[in-house]
Amino acid sequence: MCARIISVANQKGGVGKTATTTNLGASLYNLGHKILLVDMDPQGNLSSSFGTVERGETTVADAILDRKVALPIVPIYKRDDARLDLIPTSVALATAEAALMNKLGREFRLREQLDTVSNLYDFIFIDTPPSLGLLTINSLVAAQLVLVPTEARYFSLQGLQMLQESIDEILYINPHLRILGIVLSKFDRRLREEQTVATYLREHWGDLVFETHVGTNSKILEAASAGMPLIEMHGSHRAVEMYASLAREVLARV
Ligand SMILES: Nc1ncnc2c1ncn2[C@@H]1O[C@H](COP(=O)(O)OP(=O)(O)OP(=O)(O)O)[C@@H](O)[C@H]1O
Ligand SMILES: [Mg+2]
Repeated sequence: MCARIISVANQKGGVGKTATTTNLGASLYNLGHKILLVDMDPQGNLSSSFGTVERGETTVADAILDRKVALPIVPIYKRDDARLDLIPTSVALATAEAALMNKLGREFRLREQLDTVSNLYDFIFIDTPPSLGLLTINSLVAAQLVLVPTEARYFSLQGLQMLQESIDEILYINPHLRILGIVLSKFDRRLREEQTVATYLREHWGDLVFETHVGTNSKILEAASAGMPLIEMHGSHRAVEMYASLAREVLARV
């Protein structure tokens, strides 16, 4: 069995891509799954969300530029059959993105590498940078599914339209790519603007919008700064339950 590969994407910055990848990954691990998280953002927020991780001599940037270099996979958690592994980012990814421009098969580099490890996992989540550059394109080409975290703000709606257009372009080279769902990942129900946009989103995108929304919650921020998934920091908490609920919806959809 090969893993479901899910790219977590939205070119808008700060909408909760990394928090969703971290906490959804940890929730699915907690439910007994084998998870690989890939940090394709040179900012490295996903890598920091798991504290200080050991890094080998080669980086994901080397692996993208040269197929003879294996992906640097770091084990984070293991329990019975379940595991959570991480491919940490490297600042060199930013220069690798520019270097890829002159390479053949530049959109397929990550896909080819993930193919070699995909049989080891149930789910692979790829955290992407806030842009539609080659790193995000590599993630969308490697994936079968796109998970889209979004804020419930007016400008987010335009962003979603742009993302849809990019996905339509990717279909030329990855025809089976589809949107797994859109998740309101920082929802503040007290704001009227957010309620209005959330209603519009559900009308416009229908069932693609997950029923679960993740509310704004300071514990999510604190866990990210402490370098651990929420569930490790607060075993039971309202915010933990929100991601667990999202995890169950994801399992029902794949
Ligand atoms: N539900 C939430 N409640 C409160 N804070 C949150 C929530 N989700 C994410 N955050 C915080 O908001 C900030 C931005 O979130 P995150 O880093 O996940 O967004 P991102 O889309 O990955 O950003 P970037 O585009 O820069 O990669 C972080 O400080 C994060 O801890
Ligand atoms: Mg991020």
